[in-house]
Amino acid sequence: MKCFYYLLGLTFLFSFLILYSPWTSEPTNNLTFRQSFPLPKEDFCDLSSGHWVRDLRGSQYTNESCSSIPETKNCFKYGRKDTDFLKWRWKPDNCELPRFDPRIFFDIVKGKTMAFIGDSVARNHVESLLCLLSLVEVPLSTYRDDDDRFRTWHFPENNFTVMVLWTRFLVMGEERIINGKNSDSFDLHLDKLDKNWTSKLPEMDYAIISDVHWFYRRHFLHDNENMIGCIYCSEPNIKSYTVEFALERVIRLVLNYINECKECKSLVTLLRTGSPAHFENGAWNTGGNCNRTSPFQESEISLEGIEWRLRNMQVDEIKRASKVKKKGKRFAILDVTKAMLMRPDGHPDSHWDDKWMKGYKDCVHWCMPGPIDAWNDFLMAVLKRYAPISIPRKISE
Ligand SMILES: *[C@@H]1O[C@H](CO)[C@@H](O)[C@H](O)[C@H]1NC(C)=O
Ligand SMILES: *[C@@H]1O[C@H](CO)[C@@H](O)[C@H](O)[C@H]1NC(C)=O
Ligand SMILES: *[C@@H]1O[C@H](CO)[C@@H](O)[C@H](O)[C@H]1NC(C)=O
Ligand SMILES: *[C@@H]1O[C@H](CO)[C@@H](O)[C@H](O)[C@H]1NC(C)=O
Ligand SMILES: *[C@@H]1O[C@H](CO)[C@@H](O)[C@H](O)[C@H]1NC(C)=O
Repeated sequence: MKCFYYLLGLTFLFSFLILYSPWTSEPTNNLTFRQSFPLPKEDFCDLSSGHWVRDLRGSQYTNESCSSIPETKNCFKYGRKDTDFLKWRWKPDNCELPRFDPRIFFDIVKGKTMAFIGDSVARNHVESLLCLLSLVEVPLSTYRDDDDRFRTWHFPENNFTVMVLWTRFLVMGEERIINGKNSDSFDLHLDKLDKNWTSKLPEMDYAIISDVHWFYRRHFLHDNENMIGCIYCSEPNIKSYTVEFALERVIRLVLNYINECKECKSLVTLLRTGSPAHFENGAWNTGGNCNRTSPFQESEISLEGIEWRLRNMQVDEIKRASKVKKKGKRFAILDVTKAMLMRPDGHPDSHWDDKWMKGYKDCVHWCMPGPIDAWNDFLMAVLKRYAPISIPRKISE
């Protein structure tokens, strides 16, 4: 039932986010494009601005080489037949984004602890990272709570620890129970962080924070013990706020807290921007699906919706936190929103273990392997920029 509940929660209200873009021809860029491109200094390259180009090498792992792909994302096991969606790579306009290399990654993170903090899409990201790292070393599972929301894995040979810490809102939120039933509406405390993840902060060297999906519903906002208003509601005598307002408050609180954290190490914090859903022909609960087999082109996506506004807000908040940068803390953005807006073809659709949600399509999470693996290309590139100088950078073959 857990699975059902999470997915139900996540997908609720995604009807707002349907892409109506018409489908035209396939992007024409191919690999010859790459050789003709000069490589400017990495620091000046905006990784998020680019497009998907053909890469016939396909994915680095399969559902045979990676035994930890969850049933809900093992699309090939559940009948997905097309494989073309694996044959693209993200090409930033002004540089190259190198392919994830587990050896280089381990060189950067040896002896360190990395935590992914967020909802089930953050979990999807970790799962992709584990499959890519398993090409070199299979991790040991060292902690798992009863609900499988909090987990830790350790790679003994590389002395690297990965955690996933589940949090809906990053701040405290309690669901309103109405007539004994979950109402899907929460009381959010914009000034109180969720200790489920903050208590682990001192252990971390890298924190990868994300959270957007759970904000897209009817919530009551509290500040300093007072209810100040609500989002997605129109109730008399209650002030209406936008999702941007609530999420900005939360992100700012999180980043300030990290900046001020005295028990923390010289933490590197990455904020991963929102991952779009792609329901078409309906919403998640009215028969919506996502059965495309190729990416959108830039002309087919919209940079006007709420997802893009939230992404812009997150970029601004990271800039703000970087200016403060107390006690050696570093901040960067893992800016995947635009790349993922272009990947309606990367979701499970009907190809997942839907035993708790018979017949529903998943257009929120991502197939594995699939375009979500590119998030780890982004991650490796960003870590290389922000890795402490003292870390040995011997690049293995
Ligand atoms: C790749 O692109 C180049 C230049 O646009 C073109 O000449 C070539 O035919 C393309 N190759 C393939 C395999 O599409
Ligand atoms: C991997 O996918 C194939 C279909 O491509 C499927 O037949 C097989 O059962 C899957 N294996 C595992 C271990 O999931
Ligand atoms: C693993 O990393 C931790 C933290 O940096 C360090 O204290 C420990 O000595 C390392 N263990 C080994 C076996 O290298
Ligand atoms: C913290 O984790 C516990 C155990 O999973 C859970 O019951 C609680 O709701 C979580 N707190 C928040 C604010 O989500
Ligand atoms: C994709 O879904 C649409 C709407 O449900 C359907 O009309 C179409 O035939 C599907 N395409 C494929 C390739 O299955």
